Amino acid sequence: MSTDLYCVMGNPVEHSKSPWIHARFAQLTGQDLRYEKRLVARDAFARTVQAFRDEGGKGCNVTVPFKFEAAALPARQTDRARLAQACNTLRFDDGGIYADNTDGVGLVDDITRNAGVDLAGCDVLLIGAGGAAAGVLGPLIEARPERIVVANRTQGKASSLMARHAALAASHRVRLEAPGLHELHGSFDIVINATSSSLSGGAIPVAPGVLRPGALACDLMYGPAAQGFIEWAQRHGAVARDGLGMLVEQAAQAFLVWRGVRPPSAQVLAELRATL
Ligand code: ATR
Repeated sequence: MSTDLYCVMGNPVEHSKSPWIHARFAQLTGQDLRYEKRLVARDAFARTVQAFRDEGGKGCNVTVPFKFEAAALPARQTDRARLAQACNTLRFDDGGIYADNTDGVGLVDDITRNAGVDLAGCDVLLIGAGGAAAGVLGPLIEARPERIVVANRTQGKASSLMARHAALAASHRVRLEAPGLHELHGSFDIVINATSSSLSGGAIPVAPGVLRPGALACDLMYGPAAQGFIEWAQRHGAVARDGLGMLVEQAAQAFLVWRGVRPPSAQVLAELRATL
């Protein structure tokens, strides 16, 4: 049997930790695969996916800025990818492409397995309503918190994200709200920063009062991009968490989609953290 080929497609992609993570998953589970990085020109995503399939690739991860284009490929899409309107995981089956989004379940797994916090019954604040927020809202609802408040600088985007998820929230008996940032009041057990404000040097767009004492505060980013939010959360008595765990857990779910095997993600997260 030949070694199966996978890759991550993005632009930029040089910084990606996915090849390291998947190589380690493969070692630890005894799976015979190779995982590469592919830098894709901005106008060449669909073409590059086709070329990679022709080359014998079995599947790929998709990162910025192609997750939305990945959701527009002709494919059998999972419900969570359809709701997110974005895909980060493609599997090339004989019958066509299977398209998933494992970002949200990666976040939920990181919160529940790695941070040890049960989302059920919690009050959750999701800050932001762009692509990153859309990728995680469905799985957050499925974890059955009491309430999720989506707060975004542009309130209309939060309202449409809420509208798209209203049926899912109702079926899980989760209260979903989308007030404007200035109408936001009350405090939360879990606060998730899904904005890109720190990338542009912006301030944290909510007041520290949103953090209940001992709240879990998660940024979806890691490294310097998450630092401002993490320091703010710690300064105000929260337990802060960066997005490294979500990165490893979304990869573990992609690995499961491709290989049918769940890798030991907590071990790989600890190893990855030790290298940083
Ligand atoms: P991503 O894919 O990272 O989510 P995006 O779709 O461009 O990127 O979304 C960026 C998110 O960060 C949006 O919620 C954006 O708010 P707007 O919808 O109002 O643009 C939010 N954001 C970016 N810079 C911000 C800032 N300085 N203050 C508050 N929110 C900000």
